[in-house]
Amino acid sequence: MTSVAHPRDRYDRPVGSLRLSVTDRCNMRCRYCMPEESYVWLPRASLLSFEELERLVRLFAISGVEKVRLTGGEPLLRHDLPNLVSRLRRVPGIRDLALTTNGILLDRWAEPLRNAGLDRLTISLDTLRPERLREFARTDRHPDVLRGIAAARHAGFTTIKVNAVIIRDYNLDELGDLLAFGRSEGVEVRFIEYMDVGGATRWSMDQVVSKQELLELIGRTHGPTTLLAGDPRAPAERFTLVDGTRFGIVASTTAPFCGQCDRSRLTADGTWFLCLYAEAGVDLRESLRRGASDAEICDQIRQTWEGRTDRGAEARLGQSERGALYPVEALRADPRREMHTRGG
Ligand code: GTP
Ligand code: 5AD
Ligand code: SF4
Repeated sequence: MTSVAHPRDRYDRPVGSLRLSVTDRCNMRCRYCMPEESYVWLPRASLLSFEELERLVRLFAISGVEKVRLTGGEPLLRHDLPNLVSRLRRVPGIRDLALTTNGILLDRWAEPLRNAGLDRLTISLDTLRPERLREFARTDRHPDVLRGIAAARHAGFTTIKVNAVIIRDYNLDELGDLLAFGRSEGVEVRFIEYMDVGGATRWSMDQVVSKQELLELIGRTHGPTTLLAGDPRAPAERFTLVDGTRFGIVASTTAPFCGQCDRSRLTADGTWFLCLYAEAGVDLRESLRRGASDAEICDQIRQTWEGRTDRGAEARLGQSERGALYPVEALRADPRREMHTRGG
């Protein structure tokens, strides 16, 4: 195909980064994401195959995507994931391939993923206390997560990030312990503001700990923090402590970064969302399975992106009486509204 200029959206944002959710299933039940007793899952037959995913990523790369992040649900629950990684590794134009995982299965998969060509890993770890994780995420596999982080290092991953969503009544007393963990394990801890995304049905503003408060608390116990220069499109701001420890803060809730947002996300059933908060997405599975040509799908990507006006997190900021984005019934009616379906 002849190459043409990559599309820009209505705010002149490029399509740079694609998050691929490879499964909507998860082996944890974090309270900020999957607090309910039961869920409506995507029908198995609707999940894109590796061939379909590879083709779409190739067409997105032609359209300007350079970074791909595999997410879930829990992506390591998808059978044979290293096979997908090695396929995506070969797609021309993809210069960065990353994975976000809860780490439970990482001990088994870190090395195969590295060998398949994965560049970067982000592991979710909100607490260093096994009993807290049991209560908060309904799992007793905390030791497996720690083993997974160690396995990632041994497998040769040099850029390992640890995501900790900070919730006032849950883990706000662990900032110091998490920073010390990051320093001793050689991983970069990022504190994430609790977001009112689909699925966070227990969300309330009083449980959010803002970037400002996090910096004040850390400053009080660890001395002055210095802001590091970084990629303006990245959601995390990075800081150092006087002893050289680096950490990040993702302030999606109180200081959204929509103006710089080059991301979009594909659910495991091939629905393309232009924003984490978007009500609806574009059905690319339908295009794939009715036999649309590469050029047709590239056109669909271009036209969709050129019409993009989403600034979901900023819009939420302007809302008075902010509460959960969707009630449970609305999530049951369309599971694609869930964060665990569109990719954390
Ligand atoms: P890289 O920049 O590739 O390292 O990834 P990242 O920093 O986006 O990493 P990650 O996937 O770990 O995302 C970190 C956090 O940023 C998520 O847990 C969300 O809280 C937030 N986030 C991720 N994607 C989006 C998005 O599209 N919009 C908003 N508002 N927040 C996001
Ligand atoms: N608020 C903030 N981050 C969330 N994630 C999921 N739900 C939320 C939420 N309500 C992110 C976390 C987790 C990743 C898989 O998704 O960063 O580590
Ligand atoms: Fe991008 Fe939407 Fe997230 Fe804003 S809320 S950063 S527009 S995905």
